[in-house]
Amino acid sequence: MTITLKSAADVAAMRIAGRLTSEVLDMLGAHVKPGVTTEQLDKLAHDHIVHVQNAIPAPLNYAPPGYTPYPKSICTSVNHQVCHGIPNDKPLKNGDIVNIDVTVIKDGWHGDSSRMFVVGEGSIAAKRLCHITYEAMWKGIQKVKPGARLGDIGHAIQTFAENQGYSIVREFCGHGIGQKFHEEPQILHYGRPGTLEELVPGMVFTIEPMINVGRREIKEMGDGWTIVTKDRSLSAQWEHTVVVTDTGYEVLTVSDGTPAVPAFITG
Ligand code: MF3
Ligand code: CO
Ligand code: CO
Repeated sequence: MTITLKSAADVAAMRIAGRLTSEVLDMLGAHVKPGVTTEQLDKLAHDHIVHVQNAIPAPLNYAPPGYTPYPKSICTSVNHQVCHGIPNDKPLKNGDIVNIDVTVIKDGWHGDSSRMFVVGEGSIAAKRLCHITYEAMWKGIQKVKPGARLGDIGHAIQTFAENQGYSIVREFCGHGIGQKFHEEPQILHYGRPGTLEELVPGMVFTIEPMINVGRREIKEMGDGWTIVTKDRSLSAQWEHTVVVTDTGYEVLTVSDGTPAVPAFITG
């Protein structure tokens, strides 16, 4: 396993990429309303990243082994779509929930973050899923400090979500990130405390749990990208990019519009 550790200068560069990533989400949030299409959101994001930020949308033409090049600049996963939803011309409607996942490359460094948005007025069940998934991501982030292990993160997320009656998607995980979009290590969102790699300062990775109301099983759609829940139950995801510091963690994907940190973090 080769985990690249980032220097202080590397982290400073990733802080900039992370802020730009989060600012794209801030900008898009104002446009998420009934009637807007995810393709319109994609164009807004693409133009902002390329022409305002002078940066690169990492998803566009991204082609890991076994995949066809990803055709858009962001991922938009609606309702029972788990992740990697491809923006299209279907308007969002009142009550939909949508995950928008943005990855920006600035000066060669990546920032990767996603948020849930409720379109118009959501049901209690939909809002609860989005809220619990946000807290689950933070239960994982809270574990990040030197000496902790990756299994501690996965365990915290899994137990929290399962205690709420939800299930954790296992086929996709968080990942190391830096000059590459996806690096080692994998960050599983389930697991056992005290297992797997020990965290050391300078590690940078994402935490991005995908949580389903129903069963954890998923399937891939014919487009080769979009992942949906097998039972068509609602699914949610949040994602931050974090660095392990000497004393704990720093979230890199922050901007003026970043949602408030849960009370169990701030005390
Ligand atoms: N942003 C996703 C992640 O969090 C990856 C999307 S790959 C893409 O890892 F090609 F679909 F953009
Ligand atoms: Co990611
Ligand atoms: Co992402």
